[in-house]
Amino acid sequence: MELFDVYKLWPIEPVKAKGLKIWDKDGVEYTDLYGGHAVISIGHCHDTYVNMLQEQLNRLGFYSNAVQNSLQRELAASLGRACGYEDFALFLCNSGAEANENALKLASFHTGKSRFIAFEKAFHGRTFGAVAATDNPKIRAPFNQTEHITFVPMNDIAAVDKYLSTGEYAGVIIEGIQGVAGIYEPDAQFLQEVSSLCKKHSAALILDEVQSGYGRTGKFFAHQHSGVVPDIVTTAKGMGNGFPIGGVLVAPHIKPSYGMLGTTFGGNHLACTAALAVLKVMEDENLVENANTVGEYLIAELSKLPVFKEVRGRGLMIGLELNPGYETLRDKLLFEEHIFTGGAGANVIRLLPPLNITKEVADLFIATVKKLTE
Ligand SMILES: Cc1ncc(COP(=O)(O)O)c(C=O)c1O
Repeated sequence: MELFDVYKLWPIEPVKAKGLKIWDKDGVEYTDLYGGHAVISIGHCHDTYVNMLQEQLNRLGFYSNAVQNSLQRELAASLGRACGYEDFALFLCNSGAEANENALKLASFHTGKSRFIAFEKAFHGRTFGAVAATDNPKIRAPFNQTEHITFVPMNDIAAVDKYLSTGEYAGVIIEGIQGVAGIYEPDAQFLQEVSSLCKKHSAALILDEVQSGYGRTGKFFAHQHSGVVPDIVTTAKGMGNGFPIGGVLVAPHIKPSYGMLGTTFGGNHLACTAALAVLKVMEDENLVENANTVGEYLIAELSKLPVFKEVRGRGLMIGLELNPGYETLRDKLLFEEHIFTGGAGANVIRLLPPLNITKEVADLFIATVKKLTE
């Protein structure tokens, strides 16, 4: 059997990694400023992470959600402390799309309504509801067409008001910072007004923090820069440092009932252990603070370079929009200088490095960009 060919692959095969370093099968060393798409939060193969997972695997790898699993409670308590939402409840699943799917479903159960507002250029995943709320017709099959989603422009509060005031909407789903779109942050005032409108019209505000969460922007969640408290927050990517896990954080006024949501693999022993290890390392090594400090430094220094038309983002979620003529920079970084970065379209480079990146590595990147573009 061959693989179903849906990915355009780089001709590189990583076989080993540590911290921000990756080695391919020919022994070539790379610097990882992409984190496997914002997934590697605490660095590759962190000792604490490896040890905790090894110990758990030797003890118990999996049992179903029909029995007690105190690791889930430990994770909920630890995550609540880390993000400040100690009165929220946690539903565990396996990916970002699944987290959003469950969030949409939960908001619909809670309000008894079926329609949602989503934003132009949004990406929320590839399952039914998540892809319907994703503003990319190319990845939506005829089966996924639905009248339930209305797309409005980011920061257009009049459009949000127009639809919410019909009373037909279960909620609004928005990324803390739009990632796949090329790093666009909603204005703080806009988010605050959306939050008020949701309360006024009994709709749920769902913050998709799958990419922008887990300390990446210098606060635990990106929306916390604007001071809003959503009804539902979704998370995945950095949560397990590579072990698949997603979470739905639910505000206390949304009540659960047996059977409302469910999953076979979600919250399994290994996934919870991976997530507990991530939170432990984040706390021990002050990684949210590091994301803020090194991120601010990178944004300030990279903004000075003429190669970039615009530098967007916060902390370690950075979009570098290239001036015309520099479209090959990402390939040069990878193939000539062995630095992994992410992309968004042809002219935006995305930096999503592990949160323990040092100033020295940041300086290496800045110097390399200068060398390649001067
Ligand atoms: C903001 C956002 N939401 C949801 C997803 C989907 O996550 P997953 O690929 O884990 O299903 C992504 C993935 O890139 C994302 O960036």
